[in-house]
Amino acid sequence: MAGRLEEWVDERLGWPSAIRSALLQRVPRLSWGHVLGSATLVTLIILILTGVLLSFSYVPSPDEAHTTVEYITQELPFGAFIRNLHHFGASALVVLSIAHLIRVIVHGAHKYPREFTWFTGVVLLLLVFAAGFTGSLLPWDQNAFWATAVRMRVIEVTPGIGDRLAGVLMGGEELSAVSLVRFFIAHVWVVPSLIVTVVVMHLRLVHKHGISGVPRRGE
Ligand code: HEM
Repeated sequence: MAGRLEEWVDERLGWPSAIRSALLQRVPRLSWGHVLGSATLVTLIILILTGVLLSFSYVPSPDEAHTTVEYITQELPFGAFIRNLHHFGASALVVLSIAHLIRVIVHGAHKYPREFTWFTGVVLLLLVFAAGFTGSLLPWDQNAFWATAVRMRVIEVTPGIGDRLAGVLMGGEELSAVSLVRFFIAHVWVVPSLIVTVVVMHLRLVHKHGISGVPRRGE
């Protein structure tokens, strides 16, 4: 029965064979360092899930942002746990992505034919930084406000595009209600959609080329 159902779905959607080909791929001799890519992926999934949960109770306006964050932490059941998971998960994502990048370099896995896997990885790292940057303003407390204000000044003095980029991000010359909404939209929609798109490209390339093993002496 289960077999016939699987065949039925496979003929129409192709999912069972796609999942089988992804999970049953032959891999060469691996090291513990090879878990870092999957650990990064699991952390990313936790961040997306906790982020969705937080967004049910967060209001991106100067009058309510801080109050709703306090409500999440102090009154919402499991709110503090979910917020801390999101907060520390964000730092873990940066650390794991960089550790994964170092593992890739150490094993020479960025070389032919995996140049584009590497390139999509670099884009992912930049997007991970963008997620942290846009998220850090959202608590809208003194720390969040002034840390972002200083970063915006740094962006402003970037030659050429700095002024314009800071203007687009803040929606004016100073941090305001408009900036908070822009940072919120960037943090919950723009950056995560880009991250998910590039992760799918990254994993398709990993699947296409197969995972490279631990290089032997002289390789
Ligand atoms: C959100 C961030 C990222 C996720 C979720 C992710 C996920 C993964 C996974 C699951 C693998 C296969 C297992 C492994 O080799 O560890 C992999 C492989 C790979 N990743 Fe990433 N990655 C990310 C960021 C990066 C970064 C920052 C780089 C480098 C700039 C990178 C470059 C590569 C390369 C070259 C491979 C192929 C490695 C091989 O074949 O041995 N990735 N990635």
